[in-house]
Amino acid sequence: MARLLDAKRNPKEEMDELPLRPQRLDEYVGQADLKNNFRVFIGAALHRDEPLDHILLYGPPGLGKTTLAYVIANEMHAKIHTASGPAIEKAGDLAAILSSLEPGDILFIDEIHRLPRVVEEVLYGAMEDFKLSIMVNRGESNARSINISLPPFTLIGATTRAGDISSPLRARFGITEKLQFYTEEEISLIVKRSAKVFNSTISEDAAKEIAKRSRGTPRIANRLFRRVRDFANYEGKDHIDYNDAVKALKALKVDSIGLDDVDIRYLKTLIERFNGGPVGLEVLANAIGEEIMNLEDVYEPYLLQIGMIDRTSRGRVATRKAYEHLGIAHQTHLF
Ligand SMILES: Nc1ncnc2c1ncn2[C@@H]1O[C@H](COP(=O)(O)OP(=O)(O)OP(=O)(O)O)[C@@H](O)[C@H]1O
Ligand SMILES: [Mg+2]
Repeated sequence: MARLLDAKRNPKEEMDELPLRPQRLDEYVGQADLKNNFRVFIGAALHRDEPLDHILLYGPPGLGKTTLAYVIANEMHAKIHTASGPAIEKAGDLAAILSSLEPGDILFIDEIHRLPRVVEEVLYGAMEDFKLSIMVNRGESNARSINISLPPFTLIGATTRAGDISSPLRARFGITEKLQFYTEEEISLIVKRSAKVFNSTISEDAAKEIAKRSRGTPRIANRLFRRVRDFANYEGKDHIDYNDAVKALKALKVDSIGLDDVDIRYLKTLIERFNGGPVGLEVLANAIGEEIMNLEDVYEPYLLQIGMIDRTSRGRVATRKAYEHLGIAHQTHLF
């Protein structure tokens, strides 16, 4: 079973998530600034009867990048084609995808930071002036390049690692937007919406209790909601109240603020072994036995968001809040 509080995508779960995906910008909860911007960009593009500029969406897993790409396609009345960075292995794979596009279509490339370099280079021309230029018979005497004109289209790239995108690729996106963690109120709305989709009802305080433990992440909120609903349904109830939620979350061993065993190990190691830091990420990752990338992409953004750690030039530091949450005294600490 996937870890309950791990925000990363779990392929088996994707079917469960599908009915929960909002279709329109108005149903897409939270991300107010980003939504306002997209209302303008989409309205203007529709007014001019032109495709949108290329869009780069970035932010931690489970915050709604893929969902937003589909919402944008819907609002633009555009057909969306989807691909994933690591799956496009050769320039020819990309050429095949691009040459199937019709005017105004949207091409969504997930994990765009994992596109192979050679593929990325072909993408530059396609993004810039809708030209596809590929070399055939490379390295042979009859090598030549073929140029194909493409219809105007919109590329939407999504990534959890904006820092890994090369600057020439980044520069070709006219719109770059970062997704933020959601507030408790927003997650609560998402939970209530999910209840409706699944034909159950949930009390205000039960939705809030799930929201508190969902790490500001819709994917986790929906997962916790489904499990809490199991506990209620098992008892023959279709309505979920506060007691059902608390009982289920306790049985599921979900921490009161949604920290999981990796977060706890991260904080404990930082405090107990490194005296609260500062300590370099690599050293810390080694001590915990987790991959650096996983800590950077999935764990640290949330710990930073809720003020449990600080990132300084000398390394990671545990804050007073972290000591308090773990119930450890911190006499020697100044934070
Ligand atoms: N703004 C939102 N309003 C309501 N539900 C949302 C919102 N954003 C995401 N969700 C829900 O959360 C689930 C996860 O979102 P999504 O798959 O779009 O995340 P992602 O950012 O693409 O994650 P990953 O980085 O793992 O690909 C969706 O299936 C959807 O049900
Ligand atoms: Mg996604």
